[in-house]
Amino acid sequence: MILVTGGAGFIGANFVLDWLQTHDEPLINLDKMTYAGNHDNLVTLTGDERHTLVVGDIGDSVLVSDLLHRYRPRAIINFAAESHVDRSIHGPGDFIDTNVVGTFRLLEATRQYWTSLSPGERSSFRFLHVSTDEVYGSLNADDPAFTETTPYTPNSPYSASKAASDHLVRAWHHTYALPVLTTNCSNNYGPYQFPEKLIPLMLHHALTDKPLPIYGDGQNIRDWLYVGDHASGIRRVLEAGRVGETYNIGGNNERSNLQVVHALCDLLDRLQPHPEGSYRRLIRFVTDRPGHDRRYAIDATKIRTELGWTPQHHFESGLEQTLRWYLSHSDWIARVTSGAYRQWLETHYTEENTPCARD
Ligand code: NAD
Ligand code: TYD
Repeated sequence: MILVTGGAGFIGANFVLDWLQTHDEPLINLDKMTYAGNHDNLVTLTGDERHTLVVGDIGDSVLVSDLLHRYRPRAIINFAAESHVDRSIHGPGDFIDTNVVGTFRLLEATRQYWTSLSPGERSSFRFLHVSTDEVYGSLNADDPAFTETTPYTPNSPYSASKAASDHLVRAWHHTYALPVLTTNCSNNYGPYQFPEKLIPLMLHHALTDKPLPIYGDGQNIRDWLYVGDHASGIRRVLEAGRVGETYNIGGNNERSNLQVVHALCDLLDRLQPHPEGSYRRLIRFVTDRPGHDRRYAIDATKIRTELGWTPQHHFESGLEQTLRWYLSHSDWIARVTSGAYRQWLETHYTEENTPCARD
């Protein structure tokens, strides 16, 4: 079996759902269920014995050690993180706690468990750390895309904390020979994304007649990857990646934020036209994010040539698929935006049954 951390969040949940669609191998899903952890994302797995959700913190060394020795996973995939740049600007402490200290504690518990394995189990074991392209900093318009050897230049508390975690993972390999893999991925979009991130936030605002807030001049550029492609890239790296290596995962879809929001409005105009006219009428330019990185771009040559992985979704078709998913899951959006999704935690998780396992 494998252990996934942060598997009730956006990318982790998509990975867990994809994994159980393509494998029979069971998985343990360790998630702290912060505001970003949503049991609704996993509701289709109710009754599926291959999935065990454990509510807990990657920084809880006793819990993690217990899980590792009890379930004896052959691999760990670490999605757990505080992931939103704007939140990191307003409150960086949680980012240091989870992304830096939490990753350190997870690595230490993993090292202790890994040392106890037989030589064969030790050599096939993998610790795959999921990271971001934001660790490489900001590009100018004409700069070449990030490669795996681009120096780290993080600019936000979020990207600095992820950079720190990547360095720890690297060091645990070089110093202790822990068999690690790191992936650095561009901006994801798709089902189950918390509506604080650009695409689901704009969609939710458009559907509720709220302004669509574009930071600065809207010309900041991101590379966009459909979340299902990210999941398949991670599976491929886990399967065939060279130990100790880093793999960039990108969608080859650079778009300015304004282009993204225009595309979203135009699709909504077609799928759910508004009587007062185009959704573009809601666009507003607002004060820029402090330290806002201008451009991210991924050179994904290494994963393509070494591991044969390429993304399957082009941005426009992936965005349409994503919008159709949200439009047909208005209950999911309503429960997230009203806070009702937290009820699962309140009902199922109390101090008395900490930590608890649920399916
Ligand atoms: P998310 O915020 O949607 O989900 C994070 C999950 O981790 C939540 O379920 C949360 O409850 C859990 N979590 C937080 N702290 C924890 C802790 N201490 N212990 C256990 N669980 C904890 O994030 P996401 O967008 O799904 O991102 C997942 C990973 O992918 C992160 O490491 C992020 O840095 C990375 N990443 C994200 C993107 C993106 O576009 N969203 C792009 C590249 C890389
Ligand atoms: P976001 O989804 O927060 O991802 P990240 O900052 O990790 O790239 O933001 C994507 C881009 O969209 C980023 O350049 C900031 C911009 N943005 C807005 O213009 N308005 C918004 O309301 C949000 C949330 C983001």
